[in-house]
Amino acid sequence: MESSNFSLLFFYVIFLAILPTLQANIGQFDHVWHRRLKEAREAAKQAYKPNPMKVTAEFNTHVMRAMKGSNSTRRGLGKKNDECEAANPIDKCWRCDPDWEKNRKKLADCAIGFGHGTTGGKDGKIYVVGDNSDKDLVNPKPGTLRHAVIQTEPLWIIFSRNMNIRLTAELLITDNKTIDARGANVHILDGAQMTIQFVKNIIIHGLHIHDIQPISGGLIRDSMSHYGVRAMSDGDGISVFGSTHIWIDHVSMTNCSDGLIDVVSASTAVTISNCHFVKHNDVLLFGATDSFSRDKVMQVTLAFNHFGKGLVQRMPRCRWGFFHIVNNDYTHWLMYAVGGSQQPTIISQGNRFVAPKDRNAKEVTKRDYAPESEWKNWNWRSEGDLFENGAFFVESGKKVTKFPKTDAKAVSAKSVAFLTKDAGPIKCIPNKPC
Ligand SMILES: *[C@@H]1O[C@H](CO)[C@@H](O)[C@H](O)[C@H]1NC(C)=O
Ligand SMILES: *[C@@H]1O[C@H](CO)[C@@H](O)[C@H](O)[C@H]1NC(C)=O
Ligand SMILES: *[C@@H]1O[C@H](CO)[C@@H](O)[C@H](O)[C@H]1NC(C)=O
Repeated sequence: MESSNFSLLFFYVIFLAILPTLQANIGQFDHVWHRRLKEAREAAKQAYKPNPMKVTAEFNTHVMRAMKGSNSTRRGLGKKNDECEAANPIDKCWRCDPDWEKNRKKLADCAIGFGHGTTGGKDGKIYVVGDNSDKDLVNPKPGTLRHAVIQTEPLWIIFSRNMNIRLTAELLITDNKTIDARGANVHILDGAQMTIQFVKNIIIHGLHIHDIQPISGGLIRDSMSHYGVRAMSDGDGISVFGSTHIWIDHVSMTNCSDGLIDVVSASTAVTISNCHFVKHNDVLLFGATDSFSRDKVMQVTLAFNHFGKGLVQRMPRCRWGFFHIVNNDYTHWLMYAVGGSQQPTIISQGNRFVAPKDRNAKEVTKRDYAPESEWKNWNWRSEGDLFENGAFFVESGKKVTKFPKTDAKAVSAKSVAFLTKDAGPIKCIPNKPC
């Protein structure tokens, strides 16, 4: 349904502007958004894993297998000829194929962890973005990123050349899309954020995202059949809101005005992997509201990421859900690394935590809004993490004894520098292993 006529719309803008926003950034919560909200809740219910420890064990098994035959002390020697240097099981799944460019959709089989099964635009055509402009928000020009992401059918979106894209308003992405920047140097910068709201099955790979700001809303098309009024956007790098099956891989992010990635409002089946984060205060937010208990459905894998220079806190900050934080390299933080409130479950395995010099910031963990008598019951476990420079993790909760017996342990944190060596976008050259 098209938003019907403009004077009616104007009426909505005036009146809804004074109501508290019902759902983030949606200025006009019409029946289309109501339907999307209902579908999103159903999708989250379907994707929810009642036995999440099985997923963590499967993840660790994948990494173990991929590490067999790798020599993890070889970091820093650089690529020899056409040798494939893929370190972790996600990368090994596609990078060693010299025809990666012809076989781009192979990437759709590579997500592991809670985001496993995220196929993005695998069933669709390739869409080539060749135009970096973003002028018409209601009738976007063919060839632009905005035109690509609103199409109804699944699409595998790629870029014809290196480009900088300045989004003039929120980019609203629809179901079954892959944004695949391999082979080009693509920056989303200095403008509005990417928003993944009440949708399913999105892969974002290989982008540089930085200097994103809050941008005033207005009329924005969010699909081929609908546009509506958006309120001001927050200035996150990527906002995942009420969405399911989301995989963010090999993205580099810095200096956004709100969070780098928010995963909120009952999103689930999410993997964030191989990303490189630097220079930022509030890095990752998983669950935005202490009162929103629907976030119990949230299950997120955070793996092979490098948390680097100039980061302050929230890597991530968690609420309610289940979070597997595994084989990440935390080389910098100013306040703390992993925190939360509202009894989230945090399984931290095989990470390296390097504390800052500040003697008051050695603790990896931080609990908010609860006395110890309460948080001592939250399940926060550290297993096989490596602590350097005085870093320490305060555990709590019941012993997580439900690890399936075989292969449940994560690969050693000593391999983390190797596993994360290519975090951020990778320079891939056609006809060569990447
Ligand atoms: C790993 O690589 C290092 C440096 O090249 C070498 O000295 C070592 O023998 C290798 N180890 C294995 C198990 O291959
Ligand atoms: C997205 O893909 C799924 C699985 O292939 C399919 O069931 C669904 O209809 C697709 N959605 C749209 C809007 O095409
Ligand atoms: C961060 O981004 C803002 C725009 O939001 C920009 O004005 C500022 O210069 C950037 N800071 C750095 C250190 O790049």
